[in-house]
Amino acid sequence: MRNKTIFSCLLVLVGALALAGCTSSNDEPAKPSPAPAAENKPAPTPEPAEPAEGPPAVQAKVVSNVVELGAGDDMKFNANEIRVEGGKKVTVNLTHLGKLPAANMGHNFVLLKKGVDLQAFALRAMNAGETQYIPEGDEVIVHTKVLGGGESTSVTFDAPEPGTYEFLCTFPGHFAVMQGRFVVS
Ligand code: CO
Repeated sequence: MRNKTIFSCLLVLVGALALAGCTSSNDEPAKPSPAPAAENKPAPTPEPAEPAEGPPAVQAKVVSNVVELGAGDDMKFNANEIRVEGGKKVTVNLTHLGKLPAANMGHNFVLLKKGVDLQAFALRAMNAGETQYIPEGDEVIVHTKVLGGGESTSVTFDAPEPGTYEFLCTFPGHFAVMQGRFVVS
């Protein structure tokens, strides 16, 4: 008798639990899944443009501060970086490795002082044909004459203060490609 009562109680209890569970799962409205975040994000901001690094450095051959620099009919220097030691003389030997005459494919070496705007300088230089494409002013540390194919020339000067300078060919239309860094350590 007592056992049966307990059993009955258990049944009722189990039933109630089952009912409760059933009710609970039926009545509880399915929670709406969280709405996807409104797709109104601002457009991704473009990556900040890296300053143009330019082509990889090609070192000019330098032995004892004597620089060997060449340029050919392809309108390129064979190096875009020259490294020399400060506090000494520097000699730049420039050789035109091509065959075209200076009137068509002239090359020179022009080393600019720090802070000179290379492009603005080169655009002025274009109109200075009577002075070897070196315009009036004090922007230039040193320069060579303009060479044609097969010619070579040399210039010797005191290394400027340690730092990074720019060099170029000022023959009209060449500076965009024919330029490089001149680094004094
Ligand atoms: Co040139």
